[in-house]
Amino acid sequence: MAPRLILVSNRVNVPDGGPRQAGGLTVAVNAALKQREGVWFGWSGKVSDDDELSPPHVTERRRRTFITIDLSKTDFQEYYNGFANRVLWPALHYRVDLAEFTSVDLGGYQRVNGHFADALSKFIAPEDVIWVHDYHLLPMAQELRKRGHNNPIGFFLHIPCPPPDVLKALPHHEETVGALSYCDLVGLQTEQDADNLSRYFSGLPGAIQRAPGLFEFDRRRVRVRAFPVAIATAVYARAARNSVKSPLVEDLRQSLHGNRLILGVDRLDYSKGIPNRMQALGKFLEKFPAWRGKVTFLQVTPKSRVEVPEYIAMDEEVSTLVGKINGRYGDPGWTPIRYINKSYSRASLAGLYRSADIGLVTPLRDGMNLVAKEYVAAQDPENPGVLILSQFAGAAHELDGAIIVNPYEPEAVAAAIEQALEMPIEERRERQQGMFEHLATNDIDLWAETFLNALGETREQPRLLQSLRQLFASARG
Ligand code: F6P
Repeated sequence: MAPRLILVSNRVNVPDGGPRQAGGLTVAVNAALKQREGVWFGWSGKVSDDDELSPPHVTERRRRTFITIDLSKTDFQEYYNGFANRVLWPALHYRVDLAEFTSVDLGGYQRVNGHFADALSKFIAPEDVIWVHDYHLLPMAQELRKRGHNNPIGFFLHIPCPPPDVLKALPHHEETVGALSYCDLVGLQTEQDADNLSRYFSGLPGAIQRAPGLFEFDRRRVRVRAFPVAIATAVYARAARNSVKSPLVEDLRQSLHGNRLILGVDRLDYSKGIPNRMQALGKFLEKFPAWRGKVTFLQVTPKSRVEVPEYIAMDEEVSTLVGKINGRYGDPGWTPIRYINKSYSRASLAGLYRSADIGLVTPLRDGMNLVAKEYVAAQDPENPGVLILSQFAGAAHELDGAIIVNPYEPEAVAAAIEQALEMPIEERRERQQGMFEHLATNDIDLWAETFLNALGETREQPRLLQSLRQLFASARG
């Protein structure tokens, strides 16, 4: 039987006419599956009323199989809203202070990982290569090993990995973060993340470090390495060129009456630093009054995780701040901040990015932040905008043509906005060119191929290498 690539993630983008998902994980998994025979397994996005497990839904599309299962209300509450999004999400974003741990939620998280492994188990053939994604599924490799699967298993963490001391603040961390040691390869967004996980692994009981980033636990070997996630740069640049003429962009342009446009695009999430950004905008308007009435800030912020209390609180906080700044600085003909909770397709956003003089990307902590990369890919090389980027986004390790800021210092962000608005065209072009070249070379296809190659090399087994070679050959063919 031909080897298949099995992708496992919480969300699955089933091509069944339902809403398309726009997150970074979806882009990455789609690239891994591109032209490869494969399976994508995960949650259907549906929550069923009863606690009985429903059979998996299977959808076949060309050479791909999509397998999803529903979650019960209890599972959704304990696994997704509870442990994944109220404990792991804040803690891995360095916000242990926001983590609300309960052993019930941890139990639900482990139970759902077990359900996923049970359901997936039936579809796994000995030749398959398995690639698990993100913090919802930290124990998945261990669960699959318990069920006797000796397949190569890779894992990629899309969000940050904090230092060992922070990881150890997670109650029962050995059962979640520590369970990653059952993988053959763990990929992280940056060298800093990889270093943090390596230091954590080396402190686990029984760990033997064989080489930098190579650990042995009870004769199991796991490698840790950075694989900065990327975008489909050429495709995105083309989408941006095409969508500048779209009605959305045309309407926006006309409504600006010649004002310069500053754009922010983020899910409504405390890791994105939206309140800090609003304060920085307030500072900018206070310190640089000559720009009042001449710039418009558009913040596009789809709501997410709307049942989680911290997200409900943030919604209130941002709306209040926007109201205050608009109240203080606006006048009948000009509103400084336009705040929108709608979500737009990646293609529509591409046109907005290309129209913006400044891309303001200032998360307090972010694994990578693909908005930053997409903003760069979308620019007109003759007249590019300027990226202002937080030092705490993974993308800051690569995008050296951005103005790098500390999002906790509103005055510095305000000064960066002024610098960007005044930046001469030659400097803008020069900064843009270097970043675009980097993104054009290091695109999402190369990312997927590099990860899968590294996974192939983790076991010195000719059969595995042969499987991986066949996967690549079918991808190229
Ligand atoms: O890795 C973080 C991530 O999975 C992103 O890819 C995506 O934008 C976001 O989280 C989606 O969150 P949720 O699945 O909770 O809506």
